[in-house]
Amino acid sequence: MKYNIAVLPGDGIGPEIIKEAVKILERTGEISGNTFDFRYGQVGASAIESHNDPYPEETHRICLESDSVLFGAIGDPRYDNDPGAKVRPEQGLLAMRKKLGLYANIRPVKVFDSLIERSPLKKEIIEGVDFVVIRELTGGIYFGEPRGRTEDGEKAFDTCMYSREEIKRMLDLAYKTAAQRRKKLTVVDKANVLSSSRLWREIAREEAKKHPEIETDYMFVDNAAMQIILAPGNFDVVVTENMFGDILTDEASVITGSLGLMPSASVGDTTSLFEPIHGSYPQAAGKNIANPLGTILSASLMLDYLGLKAEAERIEAAVRKSLEAGVVTRDLDNKSGYGTSDIGDFIKSNL
Ligand code: IPM
Ligand code: MG
Repeated sequence: MKYNIAVLPGDGIGPEIIKEAVKILERTGEISGNTFDFRYGQVGASAIESHNDPYPEETHRICLESDSVLFGAIGDPRYDNDPGAKVRPEQGLLAMRKKLGLYANIRPVKVFDSLIERSPLKKEIIEGVDFVVIRELTGGIYFGEPRGRTEDGEKAFDTCMYSREEIKRMLDLAYKTAAQRRKKLTVVDKANVLSSSRLWREIAREEAKKHPEIETDYMFVDNAAMQIILAPGNFDVVVTENMFGDILTDEASVITGSLGLMPSASVGDTTSLFEPIHGSYPQAAGKNIANPLGTILSASLMLDYLGLKAEAERIEAAVRKSLEAGVVTRDLDNKSGYGTSDIGDFIKSNL
């Protein structure tokens, strides 16, 4: 079959890691008799430079016309250090999520046995951990209006707003995911303080009644932040609003000791998008030292969503092989002499 894939390399290490993932996809296509037709689009700081828009219309069109989107990273320190900048690369990411209707971000948190020693947690706590965080992605305080400064500039405010519909579709996805896993759902909120969280809790309780086969529990976000470190093995599926999810998923991703390996999927109304979670890592850009595994595993996740399960598994197995053989970048082994492209080559030849 033929698949149209939108490829958005973005900023920092984005182009280098995407190049490796595309290499792997091309080879996977050759082996399995599928064709991947790649169409490239600009996003982030590079799109501000070329189009004065971090998510240009042209990129949006490419995404909409594709079967799925493979995305690298966004972010550039030139903008981080300029709070007065009118256009920011991150706005491109938010606009892309909103315009593509990508209302849920799914981040698996899984431990690779060969990397367990790298976890900041004790081996007995992290061993066997396997959960998934489902974060709301197009609502809440990152999008709510009104927002801004008061006239005298002395106060600033944001709005956290959720509709019943936005919450309900998240719970639907969360229950669907839990049903395919260990049948446990943790709803994370701050219902003891926030009214938006109380609406989440109210709808979650209604939905829980419709899913008696799933064990549902409720946790305040501050406690959840602790439990992810104290007893990560107790989680199966976690569902939460946008900002809580942003914070908890960064926390969750580092406990496995392999931030550079974590893929994610953003799904919703239109084309789904796949990206590594580690960001643009500008200090490493252009040096051939960035770890491409998170992007390669995102490509694998993408194939899984496209229904190409065997092909997805083939890539995952080759990634495991590279970890076991110690063919990894220096973030995973500081004595490593392998560069970004060596990892891609190794995986390609082990598919
Ligand atoms: C993420 C990132 C983004 C977010 C930023 C870059 C806007 O941190 O995908 O988690 O906060 O959503
Ligand atoms: Mg984040």
